[in-house]
Formats: sequence, C-alpha cells, structure tokens
Amino acid sequence: MFRPMFDTGKGPAAASGARLAFTFDGRPLTGRAGDTVAAALLANGVTACRATPVSGAPRAPYCMMGICFECLVVIDGIGNRQGCLEPLRAGMRIATQHGRRQTGQVHG
Ligand code: FES
Repeated sequence: MFRPMFDTGKGPAAASGARLAFTFDGRPLTGRAGDTVAAALLANGVTACRATPVSGAPRAPYCMMGICFECLVVIDGIGNRQGCLEPLRAGMRIATQHGRRQTGQVHG
C-alpha cells in the first residue's frame, strides 16, 4: 500500500526527520516534520480516519492529493479537515470523523 518515498530510494525526501508528537483519538503518536497528517497517520498504522455519513463504513486516505476526501478528520476540534493537505504540527489533536461535520460544532 502506501510507503514513504525515502523508503523506496526514489524521489525527494521532503520530511526533515524531526519527530513531532500528536494524538489520534487520544492515543499518543509521533510523525516526521514535513509530513502531512494523512501520511503521519498511515505511517503509524492507522487504517481508518473517518466513517461515512450514510453507512458508517470506515474510510482511509486514498489519493493523498486532495481529490477523494477520504482523509477527512477532526483536527483540534474542527471537522472536515483534509488530512492529506494539512501539514503535521506538534501537539495536534487529531480524531476520527464520525459521519459528516456538524456546522458550528467543535468536538473535544
Ligand atoms: S486522501 Fe484523497 S483527498 Fe485526502
């Protein structure tokens, strides 16, 4: 499936390698500076980051370039954030998005 470019020996290694601490559903994890939220989640073995509004089926990042919207997560209480377009920052509180975002609602 997905694998960091530096692991393949191909392409530029965009990430600096500095470790950034963040949480996913309250679980402490680390990612590399320069990674996106979606890349950091995948690198940590996260296999689902949202559940669909219709069936509740688990979904995970797919295109990694802002097209499919399968990477939606709640970041610091704000839903509908595209993990593949959001740079990872130290201290981020990332959570699974269940269903669609509720307008004006901030999740803890
Ligand atoms: S993974 Fe497709 S839009 Fe983010």
